[in-house]
Amino acid sequence: MSAVNKSFYLTTPIYYVNDAPHIGHAYTTVAGDVLTRWHRQRGESVWFLTGTDEHGQKVMRTADQNGVAPQDWCDRLVADAWKPNWVALNIANDDFIRTTEPRHAERVQKFLQSLKDADHIYAGKYEGPYCVGCEEFKLPGDLIESGDEKLCPIHSKPVEIVNENNYFFRLSAFADKLLAHYKSNPQSCQPESARNEVISFLEGGVSDLSISRSTFDWGIPVPWDTDQVVYVWFDALLNYATAVGLTDAPDSAGGQKFAQTWPADVHLVGKDILRFHAVIWPAMLMAAGLEVPKKVFAHGWLLVGGEKMSKSKLTGIAPKDITDHFGVDAFRYYFLRAIPFGSDGSFSWEDMSARYTSELANDFGNLASRLAAMIEKYCGGVLPAVSNDAGLSAALAETVAKADTAMVALDFQGGINAIMEFCKRVNGYVTEKEPWKLAKDPANQAELESVLYNTSEALRALAVLLNPVMPATCEILWESLGANEKLGAIGNQPISKVATWGQLPAGSKVTKTPVLFPRLEAAE
Ligand code: MSP
Repeated sequence: MSAVNKSFYLTTPIYYVNDAPHIGHAYTTVAGDVLTRWHRQRGESVWFLTGTDEHGQKVMRTADQNGVAPQDWCDRLVADAWKPNWVALNIANDDFIRTTEPRHAERVQKFLQSLKDADHIYAGKYEGPYCVGCEEFKLPGDLIESGDEKLCPIHSKPVEIVNENNYFFRLSAFADKLLAHYKSNPQSCQPESARNEVISFLEGGVSDLSISRSTFDWGIPVPWDTDQVVYVWFDALLNYATAVGLTDAPDSAGGQKFAQTWPADVHLVGKDILRFHAVIWPAMLMAAGLEVPKKVFAHGWLLVGGEKMSKSKLTGIAPKDITDHFGVDAFRYYFLRAIPFGSDGSFSWEDMSARYTSELANDFGNLASRLAAMIEKYCGGVLPAVSNDAGLSAALAETVAKADTAMVALDFQGGINAIMEFCKRVNGYVTEKEPWKLAKDPANQAELESVLYNTSEALRALAVLLNPVMPATCEILWESLGANEKLGAIGNQPISKVATWGQLPAGSKVTKTPVLFPRLEAAE
């Protein structure tokens, strides 16, 4: 078989459609979008998957409460809330999988049957606590005692007792292999705290997992026993592989896609769903003789009042509440810039307003508009001759190397910081050179033009480096610099060439940008 050109394959969790998206969901998906756009600009072939998790009791009960059939409920939420939300946030996913699609259900059944045939599945009886909010079988030690009740620590709601005959996956058989995997591949579970959590969980011993339910029918039927439906997490985790052709014949389109994408390079998840991804999922793959994902990265929670922000606790904030005020690009920028990826972070309007004004409007937006205004005023709107400021170009080379290392390691904060430090450096350059003073004496015209060229080049680089984070704004800047004609589309500018100084051609038309980050209206 010929060697395939492996794509950089990144997934987000697939979101429950019991409700509309909030900023916690958007946080994960925006991070995935920024990372995949970065990898695309590195010239890699990329596959970016997101989607929706539609089966299980949580979604079924919500549909019931709304007097709608579950499928209709899912169709409605996906069409009216989830897909438009990702379009609004400028998410460039390559595929969107819904677990109620036949392409998913059929492959789940085939996969399950193959595990059964290989004796990884057996019939048994399950009795124990279950949290419908988490869709998770809980261990008694996981729960919080509250009077006579036992509560899920994440949802602060009573768990239910499940008592039924169902099928079990021999998860325990993979504990040692998983442990060895995480111990010898530090990159495979990040950040370090997440890997340690997984290792200690595995060291504590793992039981087999109930993978079917018989008391409701909103799920994928178990192929050999249609009185049972597949446990929603077993169904959901498989989306990462069914979406790219799992179980299809190697020479079919699906099989080729699978060869090109699998194993996934990064599964992005919130820390609440780490164990599913770092224990159950790789064990399922090991059972099937498939490669495990290269990396599971667990990010922290957005907190409100010190607790995980969530719709069920009525602390959910819709992305639109923020983007209406700050714009989409500031939203995409803020959370990745303000919170180290992997740690929890509190959202506050005050902090977001402060960063918007100082970093985006003043440091970045003003630089762009000042430059365009000066080129118009002093150079008739035409870019002057190529020039090279050794200090600026060296700083840029350093910035690109730093930003690339950080972004590829999912250190979004470090990557964005490095870029914004360069932006500050460029502002410092303009302040120091005082082009408005140089303009007072025609004898300084050559120096004035050199300062303006260098500033334009720096902005060219900033536009390319910030494009994965703020694509709409950077596109506007790119056009204002007249860069399209000679250099082509901004999304095609390779990261590896950003630091090559002197790319903007002399003579191109520079136009004034609309204000990139308008002054904020006072919040109501
Ligand atoms: N359906 C499952 C995932 C299945 S993946 C095979 C699920 N869905 S979810 O809609 O409840 O949440 C998905 C993800 O949303 C979480 O892992 C996390 O990435 C993100 N977040 C939800 N609330 C969050 C915060 N308050 N803060 C940050 N991210 C959070 O779990």
